[in-house]
Amino acid sequence: MALIEFENVSKWFTEAGVTVHAVENFNLSINEGEFVCIVGASGCGKSTLLNMVAGFIKPSSGRILLEGEPITKIDPRCGMIFQNYALFPWKTVLGNVEFGLKMKKMPKKQRRELAREYIQMVGLTGFENHYPSELSGGMCQRVTIARALANDPKILLMDEPFAALDAMTRQVMQEELLRIVHDRNKTTLFITHSIDEALILADRIVIMSARPGRVKQDLVIDLPRPRHVSDQLTQDYLDYKNTIWESVQEEVMQNMLFAERKLA
Ligand SMILES: Nc1ncnc2c1ncn2[C@@H]1O[C@H](COP(=O)(O)OP(=O)(O)O)[C@@H](O)[C@H]1O
Ligand SMILES: [Mg+2]
Repeated sequence: MALIEFENVSKWFTEAGVTVHAVENFNLSINEGEFVCIVGASGCGKSTLLNMVAGFIKPSSGRILLEGEPITKIDPRCGMIFQNYALFPWKTVLGNVEFGLKMKKMPKKQRRELAREYIQMVGLTGFENHYPSELSGGMCQRVTIARALANDPKILLMDEPFAALDAMTRQVMQEELLRIVHDRNKTTLFITHSIDEALILADRIVIMSARPGRVKQDLVIDLPRPRHVSDQLTQDYLDYKNTIWESVQEEVMQNMLFAERKLA
């Protein structure tokens, strides 16, 4: 049985009498332990998909199954990580990482210990008592990851989590994320704008069509691991990159033509 199953999922939004079809007949199965990246033109419904898996919003039609059961509410099996870190500015690193555990009423000593373990895992030991404003973007994103992991979700949902980071930090974060998800056997659904990022991370890359978003292509990425930046010069890598780029580009063009028609 798939861990996450999208069955003919559609989502439309109606605002001031105008209906936007964000996602239409989206079908996809994700197995336990897989790292799946979703790429696609801006506005094709990627965040909408993730928000539905997280249980923040419901499909307009179709359904999403988690371990065979439809998702009906925000589910502790999923941990969401956004691009803008969404940390509590008035809480320290420790306070932020502990937050979910405190909500679950875990005793103080136990949650401190656990929070420290995850803070160490993301390389922030020594910064427990710092506030988010005292940290760099990369460090804040590490805190977010530690906070999500502390709740021990089966599934990590990541919405362009590294998009705001500089190239070097981004690379370090990608490597650390892979280490952690492989260590802890997490299933990851990761949205990115970057084909290179997807090719470093993914077991599978799902390319979405322009809005309304559907699965355009589902590619198994059969590149050896660990993958390094230097692999980006290999022929296999470049072949994947070309295939994906051409596919995404078609959809970006669709988007632009659509925008022009609206302006005309
Ligand atoms: N809450 C909402 N209300 C109205 N329209 C929305 C809402 N959320 C998303 N949309 C629209 O749905 C489409 C897909 O959005 P989104 O999933 O954010 O795209 P992506 O993440 O791929 O850039 C966009 O046209 C967006 O404006
Ligand atoms: Mg988005």
